Amino acid sequence: MESLLIKGGVPLHGEVQISGAKNAVLPIMAATLLTAEPCVIRRVPNLSDVRFMGQILEWLGARVEFKGDEVHVQSAKIKGHADYEIVRKMRGSICIMGPLLARLRKTAVSLPGGCVIGARPINLHLKGLAALGARITIEKGYVQAVTRKLVGAPMFLGGRAGSTVLGTANVMMAASLAEGVTLIESAACEPEVVDLARFLNAMGARITGAGSPTITVTGVKALHGAEHEVIPDRIEAATFAIAAAATNGEVSLRGARPEHLHAVLDKLEEAGVDIQRRASSLIVRRKARLKPVDVTTLPYSGFPTDVQAQLMALLTLAPGISIITERIFESRFMHVSELARLGADIEIEGPSAIVKGGRRLSGAPVMASDLRASAALVIAGLAARGTTQVNRVYHLDRGYEDIDAKLRKLGARIQRIEE
Ligand code: EPU
Repeated sequence: MESLLIKGGVPLHGEVQISGAKNAVLPIMAATLLTAEPCVIRRVPNLSDVRFMGQILEWLGARVEFKGDEVHVQSAKIKGHADYEIVRKMRGSICIMGPLLARLRKTAVSLPGGCVIGARPINLHLKGLAALGARITIEKGYVQAVTRKLVGAPMFLGGRAGSTVLGTANVMMAASLAEGVTLIESAACEPEVVDLARFLNAMGARITGAGSPTITVTGVKALHGAEHEVIPDRIEAATFAIAAAATNGEVSLRGARPEHLHAVLDKLEEAGVDIQRRASSLIVRRKARLKPVDVTTLPYSGFPTDVQAQLMALLTLAPGISIITERIFESRFMHVSELARLGADIEIEGPSAIVKGGRRLSGAPVMASDLRASAALVIAGLAARGTTQVNRVYHLDRGYEDIDAKLRKLGARIQRIEE
C-alpha cells in the first residue's frame, strides 16, 4: 500500500492547474448510456473513480477509450444489470440507474451500500424514478426498476438534509427520455448538476432551470451523441487554496472558477486569507494572522461538505475557537482523531466540531479514512513541523489528480512511498 511522506513547514508558491471535476464527470459518463451514438468527454481527470466508472460502463457493454484527458464512450448495445462486485467500489455508481431505466425500461442495480461518511440512502432517487412511472422493488441487494413507459411528472426531491445531487442527476437523466414534462422541485443546485444538464442538452435533451431549485425537463424521443468539456473541480481548487493559506504561501489556481466557490472564498477571507479573483483563476495568499470562523455545511450555494475537513485542518492553525457544523453527512468527522495525532485540539459535540486553534502541529503517521479526510491530513502535514506519513493514499487517488506531483511543483516536500 502506498503512503505520502510530507516534510512540513514549507510555504507553497507558484501556479497549479485545476483538473476536471470528479463529481461532474461521473454522472456525465453515466449519461452516455442514454444513447447508442458515440460521445466524447474532455477535461477528464485521471482518477481511480473515473476509471471505476469506465469499468462499469464497459461491464454494461459500452466501448470506453481513455485518450489523454478525453474519454470516448459508445453504448451501442448495453445490458441493464449491474452486480455488487462492479458497483460496490464506488458509491457514485448509483447514477447509472436513471439512464439504464430510461434506455432499457428495466434495470437491476446492486445497492452500493453505505460508506465511512454516513448511511447514504437513495430513497429520493427512488421516489423520483417512481414518480416517472417506474415500479421499484428491492430484492437480494438489488434495486429493480421496471416501466412500460416513463411519463413526466411533478415531484419534490427535498430530503432530511436538503436536496440530493446524484438523485437530481438520476431523475434528470431518466426524465430526458420520458414522455411529457417533469418538474423537479428542491432540485440540487450544484455546478455539477448544471454541467450534466449542459451535456444532456448537447445530446438533444430539453432541460431548463438547472442551477436553480426548480428544474424542468421536457422529454424527447431519443438522444444523440455529443461532445463536452467538464467544468474545473471546485473542490480541488478549494483544497489547494486552503493548502496555500495553511502553509503561509501564495498560489495561483489556474482554471478555478470563482463563481463556483463563493461560500469557500467568503470563509477564507473571513479567516484572514487574501483572495484575488480573476476571470478564470484565483490567487490565494495568507494576508495576516489566521482568525477563527464558524461554518455550517449546506447544499450549494452554501459551504460544501466536501471542503469541511480541509477547512478544519486550516482552522486548527487559527488562534481561538472555530465551530464547524456538518449538516450533510452524519459521520464525516473521521479526520478529527487523526488531526489530534498531529496536535490539534478538537472536540465533537453532536453535529459540531469545536476547534481550539492556534497550537503548533507536529508531524506524525496518520491514517486516511476517506477522500476529503485524506486531503485534510495532507494539508495539516504540509503545515506541521517535521514529517507526516499519510497512509492509505488510494483514498486521495480517487478524487485528486496527481496531488503529490502538483504539490511538489508548488515547492512541497512530499513523496509517495510503497510500504
Ligand atoms: N440523501 C437522502 N436520500 C437520498 C439521497 C441523499 O436522504 O436519496 C441525503 C444524504 O444522506 C445526505 C444528503 O441527502 O445527507 C446529500 O446527499 P447527496 O445525495 O447530495 O450526495 P450524493 O449525490 O450521493 C454527491 C457527491 C459527494 C458530495 C455530496 C454532497 C458525487 C459522486 N458525490 O454525493 O461527494 O459529498 O454530493 O455534496 O457527486 C466526495 O467527492 O468526496 C463526495 C463524497
